[in-house]
Amino acid sequence: MKVTTVKDFQKRPVADALVVPVANDGEQTTLTLSLGDDAPEFGSISVGDFKGKNAEVATEYAPTDREPRTLLLGLGLLNELTPHDLRLASAALIKTMRKAHLRSANVIVPPLDSEFRSYFLSAFVEGVVLANYEYTVRDKGPKHPLVEQIAFIAHGDDEAVIAEAVTVCEATLFARDLVNGNADDITPEALAYHARQLAKDYAAVKVTVMDEVAIAKEGLGLLHAVSRGADKGARLITIAYTGAPESDYRTVLVGKGVTFDSGGLDLKTAAGMEKMRSDMGGAAAVLGAIRAAAEVGLEVNVTGVIPATENSIGPASYKPGDVYRSYSGKTVEIGNTDAEGRLILADALSYAAKNLKPDVMIDIATLTGAVMIALGDEFAGVMASDHVLSDELMHAGRITNEFLWPLPMPQEYESKIESDRADLKNTGGKGGAAIVAGMFLAEFVDGVPWAHLDIAGVRFREEAKSYLPKGANGFGVRLLYQYLKDFGEDI
Ligand code: BES
Ligand code: MN
Ligand code: ZN
Repeated sequence: MKVTTVKDFQKRPVADALVVPVANDGEQTTLTLSLGDDAPEFGSISVGDFKGKNAEVATEYAPTDREPRTLLLGLGLLNELTPHDLRLASAALIKTMRKAHLRSANVIVPPLDSEFRSYFLSAFVEGVVLANYEYTVRDKGPKHPLVEQIAFIAHGDDEAVIAEAVTVCEATLFARDLVNGNADDITPEALAYHARQLAKDYAAVKVTVMDEVAIAKEGLGLLHAVSRGADKGARLITIAYTGAPESDYRTVLVGKGVTFDSGGLDLKTAAGMEKMRSDMGGAAAVLGAIRAAAEVGLEVNVTGVIPATENSIGPASYKPGDVYRSYSGKTVEIGNTDAEGRLILADALSYAAKNLKPDVMIDIATLTGAVMIALGDEFAGVMASDHVLSDELMHAGRITNEFLWPLPMPQEYESKIESDRADLKNTGGKGGAAIVAGMFLAEFVDGVPWAHLDIAGVRFREEAKSYLPKGANGFGVRLLYQYLKDFGEDI
């Protein structure tokens, strides 16, 4: 979708529709904005049953000189309006346009004169871009055509805010495509390919990729063990963006890149396996956030580390009950080969801690079924070595509507991952399984401030909801970008 900003209402392009946001003041339906910058006119309209409720859309066939129709876009009560209401409203607009096969619109930006204007405006743009998505398998086109062009009629200084929101949302759509894609297409090498493409597109991005041979030679024994059942080799992808070259401060993002999780020899059930192409949602979020940072030119330094592998079954599969040596030197007894995410993340975290001089490490992973039971599909779990870091991430979550909720790391549970055959065991029984998985990771961060995001519940939706489609929703891209923007520099 092409998105432009037009400062002068009279210079807007020809389009399929003019979109006029309408607020409901509770009494009557009131047109709350002007059509030009300097002449605010607040008019009253009444269109049948249209009440201006949030996400309500009405079509009026009153042609202008540029558009054959006007779409009235309900915002709801103006004095209670939140940024998220704008996301919901603009997503409803796009859905209406797509159903009606409208390809273009001139969209008047509602009056948002507050000190938080950029948050409101970003959210309004996000609903537009995020709702204009459908995963299309090869030559099967979308069920409803996509909108091709939106011109926002806005203030001059809105242009940069709009462009930034579009960039971050397009990176989110990129992540959705990776997660929705066939497991046989989005392989560990394909993730490496996409990382290398980003290095081609942006001079400030550098990528290195370790192949299976290098992984084994370097001693990433847990990543190597998990990949042994697959016909495709593992990759350790390192993607560094340097947007603040004069600073030493660097955030490391570690994304779980299991391109298909069969469970390994501890095989999953058929139902448990069906959507396991999405087990690289963390990796996709990391690639998306770095792509957004690079495209915007965010003044931060961030390195993504992606351990990428399949968890499959083959004659060389790693085995339950056996002990494997991690990159850190700690040995791990395998309680269950389906607890593979924590193994590959453990190696990636200790590799990053040792070699990349991180000031902060954040891992993002579809780690446990247990977090879905605990928090459902609207909240991801967060665990962290310090409260400031988890508070910062939760703050970014509230801004982006990608919510996090903290899980504890009680000392009392440390005994759950003890082993009599090794330093640690990769399972700890049923109770508190999401917590135990995070506590396993904590053993590998080597004193670096660290947070863990468990996105197993939020990565994929059973049903579409507003700007979130069925299937992958790109969770984490906007959250991590917001975190980097607000907290990615030591000041
Ligand atoms: N990738 C799964 C977690 C998952 C489950 C993500 C459902 C999304 C939806 C992970 O590798 C896994 O299999 N975890 C097991 C661990 C158990 C064997 C200790 C789980 O949570 O059941
Ligand atoms: Mn698994
Ligand atoms: Zn997994």
